[in-house]
Amino acid sequence: MSIKTAIVNGVQTIEIARPEKKNALTRAMYQEMADALVTANADNAVRAVLIQGQPQIFTSGNDIEDFMGSPPRDEDAPVFQFMRAMIGCDKPIVAAVNGAAIGIGTTLLLHCDFVYVADDARLAMPFVSLGLVPEFASSLLVPRLMGPRRAAEKILLGDPFTGEQAVECGIANAVLPASEVMAHARRVAERFNKLPPSAVRESKQLMRRHSKDEVLATIQAEAEIFSARLRSPEAMEAFQAFFQKRQPDFSKF
Ligand code: COA
Repeated sequence: MSIKTAIVNGVQTIEIARPEKKNALTRAMYQEMADALVTANADNAVRAVLIQGQPQIFTSGNDIEDFMGSPPRDEDAPVFQFMRAMIGCDKPIVAAVNGAAIGIGTTLLLHCDFVYVADDARLAMPFVSLGLVPEFASSLLVPRLMGPRRAAEKILLGDPFTGEQAVECGIANAVLPASEVMAHARRVAERFNKLPPSAVRESKQLMRRHSKDEVLATIQAEAEIFSARLRSPEAMEAFQAFFQKRQPDFSKF
């Protein structure tokens, strides 16, 4: 099982557990996470959601083999269901990030309410170097969070950044020693057991109300370009280079 879910002390935990592939996310894994989020949102016993990876890795992003073999074709694709469930979740979502959080691994953090990163965390949105474009409103939220200059480094150049930089630029709340991140994130999630659930839910809705339509419209605009780019010769070269363990050669385009 590559996604482990459990409700422990009022917290719906979603654990990404595919370490042999660096927690790369497949269609089946997105579907499981989407289902867990939808169920958690409707379950009165759940007061918060915790998303975590493994002690060495959060996630290396979308499974690149899936991108080549079964790319998302429409908005029913599991990745869309997952991100829609994230955005539609009225309960607080807390993320604990150890190691790498690449591609959608960083993008999904933009839709969490609390993000705790390890001192060994390494975030990156290498969409352009994969021949792709930003996804799930990162083209809107990243410049908004950190300003257009730093967003250009992260999105156009795909520069990786540390946990400390993630805090500095507003993506994360705090950096912790790697061995403490998951426990800290869980403690934050469990604090919602002592807070009035309807007030929490309505406050979260209010905080997101102004940006929701904009976020959804951006996701749609990005998705059209993203799905065309998945079939582009530039992306194919990048994906093949990854599996052949070589640098991509974009000089011919
Ligand atoms: N999709 C599919 N397979 C992946 C993967 C991904 N996103 N990330 C890692 N893997 C696989 C590798 O192909 C390798 O498989 P193998 O053992 O069958 O050869 C295995 O996971 C281990 O990965 P490896 O690259 O050898 O580990 P590493 O410790 O040297 O590097 C990363 C770890 C995360 C830095 C590196 O795997 C990486 O850059 N992955 C791709 C990240 C990416 O571009 N994601 C964006 C997708 S939009």
